[in-house]
Amino acid sequence: MPVYTLPELPYDYAALEPVIDPQIVELHHDKHHAAYVKGANDTLEQLAEARDKESWGSINGLEKNLAFHLSGHILHSIYWHNMTGDGGGEPTAADGVGELADAITESFGSFAGLKAQLTKAAATTQGSGWGVLAYEPLSGRLIVEQVYDHQGNVGQGSTPILVFDAWEHAFYLQYKNQKVDFIEAMWAVVNWQDVARRHAAARERGDSLLLAP
Ligand SMILES: [Fe+2]
Repeated sequence: MPVYTLPELPYDYAALEPVIDPQIVELHHDKHHAAYVKGANDTLEQLAEARDKESWGSINGLEKNLAFHLSGHILHSIYWHNMTGDGGGEPTAADGVGELADAITESFGSFAGLKAQLTKAAATTQGSGWGVLAYEPLSGRLIVEQVYDHQGNVGQGSTPILVFDAWEHAFYLQYKNQKVDFIEAMWAVVNWQDVARRHAAARERGDSLLLAP
């Protein structure tokens, strides 16, 4: 019985047009995301085998594979829900996401400050990576992370609440080499209701994650 399973998309392949082509959504979810799910399950099996046999020759590679595939599965699982065909704009109190809007202003000075930083972080990834808005539980602030692959260059304990996939598989069929155009277009499909729910859940969990009782 596999530990991890590929979640269903919350919409059909064409739901994010014209920002993301249906063919990209299909391949990205059905092939790429599925491969990370399989990779995480396979690696757990290989680690169990290593424990059974007390055979630790591959431990470095296995731990790296676990971080890579599991982080890929987690980030993509967030990514699909972060987007909606009815998304975009700015989060505001009038839309019921005032706490998120206030947190963005407190942490980045303004929504424009967040937008500029996250766009730049995602669009300038070297090789494969992500731009991530995360809740940092020690300070209670929001931060932007520029993630290498799926798992590098992140601070421990932070929770991703809005993720921009900047791997070529996320845009190349449609945007070719214009990664910055893709990232800028992504803002039009951001599901702020979903981001706000993740922010509220991270704050609740963060209070008990690192602080003394
Ligand atoms: Fe991806």
